[in-house]
Amino acid sequence: MSEHFRVEGGARLAGEVEVAGAKNSVLKLMAAALLAEGTTTLTNCPEILDVPLMAEVLRSLGCQAHVDGTTVVITTPAELSHEAVSPAVGKLRASVCVLGPLVGRCKRAVVALPGGDAIGSRPLDMHQSGLRQLGATSSIEHGCVVAEAEDLHGAQIWLDFPSMGATENILMAAVLANGTTVIDNAAREPEIVDLCRMLAQMGAKIEGAGTSTLTVHGVPSLQPTEHRVIGDRIVGATWGFAAAVTGGDITVRGVDPHHLDLVLEKLRMAGAEVTVLEDGFRVAMAGRPGAVDFVTLPYPGFATDLQPFAIAMATVAEGTSMITENLFESRFRFVEEMVRLGADARTDGHHAVIRGVAKLSSAPVWASDIRAGVGLVLAGLCAEGVTEVWDVFHIDRGYPQFVENMQRLGANVQRVAAPPER
Ligand code: UD1
Repeated sequence: MSEHFRVEGGARLAGEVEVAGAKNSVLKLMAAALLAEGTTTLTNCPEILDVPLMAEVLRSLGCQAHVDGTTVVITTPAELSHEAVSPAVGKLRASVCVLGPLVGRCKRAVVALPGGDAIGSRPLDMHQSGLRQLGATSSIEHGCVVAEAEDLHGAQIWLDFPSMGATENILMAAVLANGTTVIDNAAREPEIVDLCRMLAQMGAKIEGAGTSTLTVHGVPSLQPTEHRVIGDRIVGATWGFAAAVTGGDITVRGVDPHHLDLVLEKLRMAGAEVTVLEDGFRVAMAGRPGAVDFVTLPYPGFATDLQPFAIAMATVAEGTSMITENLFESRFRFVEEMVRLGADARTDGHHAVIRGVAKLSSAPVWASDIRAGVGLVLAGLCAEGVTEVWDVFHIDRGYPQFVENMQRLGANVQRVAAPPER
């Protein structure tokens, strides 16, 4: 049975919503638990499918891993398996983040490569090149990335691009290497800072977290820790856009508003009244949003994960918006679905030009990834009639309590179990 969301158009979302821990942080923190023998506890974990999947990956490596609501407890043995090849690995793109910890801890790793991704190609060349510079060999063999090192040593590493995944893997291998590693052009995302904070609590010596130069002084071993996952800025921003597109008024709690400085400024430029709170923010929009241009870039630029919401806003904005996608080449694929909803949108390479219309018109649409799916729900809220958003398992991978939160804010969104019509 395939599920879909039934989204009634014409809603105005208002109220307060609490955001859980960040998906893009918790999975890496779970992998970091591999670096220390003993029991690591993570709190404020989001209740999404990827968390039990990652727990399964860790169990396949010899850990005990228990997910209990928002708490995850991982016990790592003295001797780990270095082969992450179980079926769970293939189901989870982020499972590749066990590569660095396994190389650091076991000096070798075999990690099955996840399948293709709807948002575009996601190569591992920078992950591999970084590990090679730390003294490991790395190759792709029979669908797995294989890495091996006699001895890991510090190195000066320049990344071609501030990749989150490559920064995380190199960092997690370098914390247990001999000597000092400098990662230049490192990713600066708040989730990287969260990982650095947890590693520091475990005894790692890291300087420069949140800057583009990370300096890591290797230590012989790390200790387990207890750590609270940072709030999910992407989910938080989703609700900000939900307020903006529906002419609503939403207070978001559980995120650091400074992780969203640029996003909140863009919403202000679109005409929203934005209030920054200690543990969140409030976005209130009277009437239609104004057109604003967006360019996706690594943090502190506008996150590519928020691009579908920027497009949703642009479809109903007054005026014409240009949205530029610089990270993932296929991330505009879902714009075709927006057109089915009556959006006046065209894409050309990295750019999408959207002329806002006063009202969209409901249609059945298909989610191709987590954020595209949520972007379509936001557009559905602005469409006349009832929009069916299919393949919602994508949304469930990233948004705990999505339907419940929508309903709490006054949207008529229902989960419907029924066979697909095409
Ligand atoms: C992470 C996030 C994802 C977000 C993305 C960019 C997780 C689980 N996912 O993905 O939600 O959209 O960051 O902020 O945290 N690249 C290479 N070679 C490499 C590695 C990356 O060319 O070895 C390229 C990618 O194709 C892409 C860009 O670098 O164009 C950024 O990718 P990266 O930051 O690595 O994304 P992920 O860590 O996979």
